[in-house]
Amino acid sequence: MTSYPARVAKKVGSAVAWETASAAETHALGRTLGEACAGREVIALIGPLGAGKTCLVRGLAEGLGVPTHLVASPTFVLIHEYAGRLALYHADLYRLEERDAVNGLGLEEYTETPGVTVIEWADKAPGVLPRDHLWITLDHAGGDRRRVALHPRGARSAELVARATARLAEQSRTGGA
Ligand SMILES: Nc1ncnc2c1ncn2[C@@H]1O[C@H](COP(=O)(O)OP(=O)(O)OP(=O)(O)O)[C@@H](O)[C@H]1O
Ligand SMILES: [Mg+2]
Repeated sequence: MTSYPARVAKKVGSAVAWETASAAETHALGRTLGEACAGREVIALIGPLGAGKTCLVRGLAEGLGVPTHLVASPTFVLIHEYAGRLALYHADLYRLEERDAVNGLGLEEYTETPGVTVIEWADKAPGVLPRDHLWITLDHAGGDRRRVALHPRGARSAELVARATARLAEQSRTGGA
């Protein structure tokens, strides 16, 4: 069964916060974001352990046409690449010991490609983010609830949020068909 994020918790300017009630809803939110990507988007995922960052990335991968069973957080290599409708570059900076170590990753090369780059724990090295990026915070909101706030920083990410929000509204109107 397909789940859809139940409701918009808050909308402030171009920022939108969603509340999800299950991992399936967070996955569905990610999938919609992935479907709405046009290429060259950079998405930063910020949130504590178990907040659902990787869950959102799996959904995003599905929305980009990447087989989701392949998607696991990069641990030692730090960046995984997947082929899909658009390429997905998935980085996880959790294990980054020192801020300087990020310089050796070549993340800038990824953030300048036509694919979609997603960086978990991007707050560990915010300097690698291009000017235009979508900053997403995930927080525990009691039990299985999560608050997922989308903060577009730049025109490209604002367009992504607008397209994804329109899709989500359409999905809740049609019951997700
Ligand atoms: N609403 C929800 N959204 C996302 N995950 C949820 C939700 N409710 C429960 N969960 C569970 O929380 C866990 C989220 O794990 P996930 O690996 O996605 O977190 P993470 O933010 O990537 O953590 P880490 O920083 O440790 O990598 C999963 O076990 C998932 O089933
Ligand atoms: Mg993770």
